[in-house]
Amino acid sequence: MLLISDEKTLSRELDSLRKSGKLINFIPTMGNLHLGHSSLFKKSENTEEIRVVSIFVNPLQFNEDEDFDNYPRTIESDKKKLLAEGVDILFLPDAQIINVVKFVFRLGHISRKLCGIDRSGHFEGVAKIILKFLDLIKPDFITLGEKDYQQLLVIKKIIKDFKMKTKVKPCPTVRDKDGIALSSRNKLLGKKISLARYIPTVLKQITLEINDGRFELHRLKYFKDYLEKSGINRVHYLEILNENNLSSLTKVPCVSRIFIAVSIDGIRLIDNMRIEPKLACSRSGMLIVS
Ligand code: PAF
Repeated sequence: MLLISDEKTLSRELDSLRKSGKLINFIPTMGNLHLGHSSLFKKSENTEEIRVVSIFVNPLQFNEDEDFDNYPRTIESDKKKLLAEGVDILFLPDAQIINVVKFVFRLGHISRKLCGIDRSGHFEGVAKIILKFLDLIKPDFITLGEKDYQQLLVIKKIIKDFKMKTKVKPCPTVRDKDGIALSSRNKLLGKKISLARYIPTVLKQITLEINDGRFELHRLKYFKDYLEKSGINRVHYLEILNENNLSSLTKVPCVSRIFIAVSIDGIRLIDNMRIEPKLACSRSGMLIVS
């Protein structure tokens, strides 16, 4: 595995790989790698593919200095994991990389919903670093986890708006035996991780009720209250939205997802679950499976 920190060296290396017919698959991370990440590193059928992983804890996307300072950094064990995964290049930029982030763009509606409501500037911070990486690496593919589904939509929008050729490879959320979505923040919860189990339980229950044709949107309030009574300090949102553009459900059937964000002891956790059949919403708020 090549370890590169310098932008020029990375560009040169990638140019020569491209000339020899290789395709570049870029997997951006903030490190503290876990099994959720491993699914992103899996080599696809295409043996010509070069996997480039970046590790950079991006200060631009944190709302609080404390959250940035507390973000788990485990670079030495991350390197070992990437070696074991057979990753080709690890890009470890230094902090100055953000000084040259100078793109101007509008993320629009997608960045103002869900996490965009109480994490002002978060998606702009993600967009700035991702745009910098895409411009530098010019990958054929970018592999992203569906756990951060809103982020995935934001990155798709950047690629579309800047007319880039990069294709997005989405990877399903990896869960532990209790159904909890794997996340670097989980280990900050200590014993309180047991409370996080309520999240997939509620997502599954909602899915079940929808599929049984007995779910009305006002039930979301019931589930929010249930979670807060179970010991979760705050439910930031629990919503069912169109998965393509995060708009509210209407009479027109669409593929949708349930989105949730909660805080437990100040640690924010997010999750989402796709609702397989198409959904429409009646005037009374009843969800109709079509
Ligand atoms: O999902 C993450 O780890 C980060 O938001 C990303 C995509 C690496 C950008 O900093």
